[in-house]
Amino acid sequence: MCGIVGFVSEKNCLEEIKGGLEKLEYRGYDSAGVAFFSKGKISTLKKKGRVSSLFPLLQGKTSNCGIGHTRWATHGAPSDINAHPHRCGKFVIVHNGIIENYGELKKELAKKDKYPLSETDSEIIAMLLDNCYKGDVVEAVREVVKKLKGAFAVAVLCEDFVGKIFLFKRENPLIVGRGEGFFCFASDSPALISHTPLLCKMKDGDICEIDKTQAIFYEEKGKIVERVFIPSSLKSDSANKGDFQSFMLKEIYDIPKAIKNTLCKFEKIGLSSLAQKKLRNANHFLFLGCGSAYHACVYGKYLTEKITPLCASAETAGEYRYRRSNLPKNTVVVAVSQSGETADTVTAVKKAKSEGAFVIAITNVPSSTITTFAHESLVTLAEVEIAVAATKSYNTQLVALYWLVSEVALMHKKATYGAVYLGEKLRSAIIKTLDVAEEMHRIAKRYLGISKVFFLGKNFDYATALEGALKMKEISYIQVEGIPSGEIKHGPLALIDENCLVVHIITDYTLLDKCLNVVEEVSARGGETLIITSLNLPDKGVKVVKIPKLDAELMPIVSVIPTQFLAYFMAVEMGLDADKPRNLAKSVTVE
Ligand code: G6P
Repeated sequence: MCGIVGFVSEKNCLEEIKGGLEKLEYRGYDSAGVAFFSKGKISTLKKKGRVSSLFPLLQGKTSNCGIGHTRWATHGAPSDINAHPHRCGKFVIVHNGIIENYGELKKELAKKDKYPLSETDSEIIAMLLDNCYKGDVVEAVREVVKKLKGAFAVAVLCEDFVGKIFLFKRENPLIVGRGEGFFCFASDSPALISHTPLLCKMKDGDICEIDKTQAIFYEEKGKIVERVFIPSSLKSDSANKGDFQSFMLKEIYDIPKAIKNTLCKFEKIGLSSLAQKKLRNANHFLFLGCGSAYHACVYGKYLTEKITPLCASAETAGEYRYRRSNLPKNTVVVAVSQSGETADTVTAVKKAKSEGAFVIAITNVPSSTITTFAHESLVTLAEVEIAVAATKSYNTQLVALYWLVSEVALMHKKATYGAVYLGEKLRSAIIKTLDVAEEMHRIAKRYLGISKVFFLGKNFDYATALEGALKMKEISYIQVEGIPSGEIKHGPLALIDENCLVVHIITDYTLLDKCLNVVEEVSARGGETLIITSLNLPDKGVKVVKIPKLDAELMPIVSVIPTQFLAYFMAVEMGLDADKPRNLAKSVTVE
């Protein structure tokens, strides 16, 4: 994980590096650091904590060439010493990823009396560069890459090459940007787009050397190759929170627009003829994802079973990648990932392909790693999502799944809602649902101090229960579980007491009686229930939050919104930073 960024410019560029680090903080915020050329030497400044804690150290400093890092700790606790950049001899590096064989490599270097200062896996890269260097950095990088196992995106400064940055990567993303009088790089485009729209996604195996006038790309064997810079479709203001108190709140209010744009795009572009053919012959859908994306997969499974004759399953990508799957012939795998970079999901896609499945990716990031491996990609238009906890991207994933599965339903002559209905009815239901914000805020205040929460739901509502639970867990650190309504009597009831809240999502009329039985069972044991529903319910003496009514298969796109607000306001009332929950990062590019 982690975020890396750097600039080499005609002018002082430390402000640009600081801005880039702030934009990459969603990738980790355990420590931050920069390295830059100053009077021909490399200065390194680093500090445990958020990016902002580094800034006082940079006051009064200037440089026209530097690199920066914001860390999500994997190897070694968050500390000043484990913070990047790491230095060895003339080399200073920043790294995103994991070097899996760093233990062996350390032992090898110890034989030459070279020992690391930190507990990280990353420092070994600087040590190896120093060890392999004979005057040519690109050659040294090629040597080092051969020794490394794992995933990495690395930026290097070498004191012999003032004003140059060297970049190389395997599996983890690295983007080079070109502007007037400068070149830059970052782990992700939002860190660069306020400076330049001209971006080039580096390929695995490429080495790139940038200075203020040019970028030279070398392919694996060291031959110079042409790489094209293309204008980014991202808007430069998309990574700003405007008047909102936090990105998460802004992103919830972005949902109607995100859904409209996503639907319009899919209607316009459609599916490739190959995808149509594969979908027509498909008899099994396997949905794969992690975190929120996995919950979208659960929705995809229920939806496929309801509106098509296909059988379907949903699984976390991390589980799928390590099991014998025996996929039936004509399986279509749908891999869902907001970032398109989650290591478990990318590897699961590779596995599914090797097993002969046709793979469709649903992602929010065009030309992300997942899109390069999938046979077909549906790229949602949620635009940049900064808050670690997914909101608008989740809603657009559900919309993408609805659109895709409807295409299959239509192939089997089953009725579905068309884009016009979705565009109008769904959107207006969502806009009305946004009005529950204040009510959810009051509810959050009322339950402040609660120590256990269960989110319950049946079938489609189960997907929402899982996602609602994850949201609250991620940003308020309360012990929360999402379970199928019927499962509460098989164990969790033992935990019900006056310190426990049960949030029950009920939007399917055909399952209403069963769900109301559960409400009774919880009340009978002294538990408190909050119901989020689109239905007219008999009075059960419990708090009810009413949301607009659509058919059950569309409700998860709407009913998740009150749960997003509840999690958000709970975190705010607890004095927590909803955008940057402790220990987490938005995009987990390591295993
Ligand atoms: C991390 C984040 C989750 C996210 C998951 C999947 O664990 O903390 O919020 O849902 O990754 O991310 P993806 O980019 O693959 O959707």
